[in-house]
Amino acid sequence: MADINRQWLLRARPSGQLRQDDFEYREAPRPTEPLAPGEMRIKNVVFLCAPTMRNWMDPPGNSLYPSVPLGQPVMAPAVGRVVESNNPDFAPGDRVFALSSWQDYATLGGSTVRQPTKLTDGISFIDAMGRYGLNPITAYFGLLDVGAAKAGETLVVSGAAGSTGSTAAQIGKIKGMRVIGIAGGADKCAWLKNDCGLDGVIDYKSEDVAARLAALCPKGIDVFYDNVGGDILQAAVNNMAPFGRIVLCGQISAYDSDQQPEGPRNMMRLIYGSIRMQGFLCGSYAARFGEAVGDLKAWHAAGRIAYREDLHRGFENLPAAFRTLFTGGNQGTLLVAIDDSASDTH
Ligand SMILES: NC(=O)c1ccc[n+]([C@@H]2O[C@H](COP(=O)([O-])OP(=O)(O)OC[C@H]3O[C@@H](n4cnc5c(N)ncnc54)[C@H](OP(=O)(O)O)[C@@H]3O)[C@@H](O)[C@H]2O)c1
Repeated sequence: MADINRQWLLRARPSGQLRQDDFEYREAPRPTEPLAPGEMRIKNVVFLCAPTMRNWMDPPGNSLYPSVPLGQPVMAPAVGRVVESNNPDFAPGDRVFALSSWQDYATLGGSTVRQPTKLTDGISFIDAMGRYGLNPITAYFGLLDVGAAKAGETLVVSGAAGSTGSTAAQIGKIKGMRVIGIAGGADKCAWLKNDCGLDGVIDYKSEDVAARLAALCPKGIDVFYDNVGGDILQAAVNNMAPFGRIVLCGQISAYDSDQQPEGPRNMMRLIYGSIRMQGFLCGSYAARFGEAVGDLKAWHAAGRIAYREDLHRGFENLPAAFRTLFTGGNQGTLLVAIDDSASDTH
């Protein structure tokens, strides 16, 4: 790699939908300043485009994480390789997962928000961000732990054709549930039905979601795994079965907008139905990630999970790729590889 550090900076706070000119491309010198104790420098290899990064671009106060400062590289989950270290637990050459940023080289550790973690040997950078990455792990704990999913129950998943949603839906099938997926467009719905083996699908772009839920779930929804929020969450609230669980994984319908998310109405419905609604964060399960990855590996090896990955290559493509999350343009886990070593497993 040349002695430059390519960066995508947040140029302006997005007003409504993201635009390409909310970002600015810059070539800075490769960083050489001495590392403070505990710090390391990593060369980013693959970025995960996570919808919640859009919340990090908003003014302070809209996210758990600090807002990305204007003029700074966009904060993003990434996997990469340590190139310099002043941290006794990490050595040059180590492969790590980190809350990094849109640039070739990021200085991490020390006082940064989250400490990097080492990748398991034998799993490529791409797979560590993709099929065994944050989204499938989120789906695993969200459905099984938060949702307390049980065989024979009816599961409804919104954002069902996406990275997190398609895993949640298929784990539901593996666990013996009847699974209905909600997604946008005929192609995604056909994939859910034909490849993922779902029992029913709802195209929220062309169908009345509340009416279809009532028809497809005559005894109500036992577990609603929600990636979307807004009207779709409302439709599910109105169709929950007694003692149902609503798993609040995400609210993507509200991210790329200036509007406050619509809260669900009719909370008496939850009281009358003894229904539990609970949000969660994948990071809370960090100590148990190995459990999820072990099961996911076994299910993939047995061909029990249909998986789609939307892999872009090239640092220059980061903002454009990221924006597809909010138009439904992505087909599965959205990754951007910026380095030829993305398939390396050691
Ligand atoms: N709680 C956690 O720890 C955690 C961790 C990871 C992810 N998440 C959440 O999980 C959700 C999915 O994330 P992902 O990374 O797996 O992305 P993804 O589902 O692969 O991609 C996003 C999808 O969201 C759908 N979408 C976008 N705008 C929408 C709208 N206005 N209404 C309905 N659907 C819309 C689109 O699918 P269609 O074509 O079907 O519209 C799009 O393809 C997000 O809400 C994210 O924040 C939460």
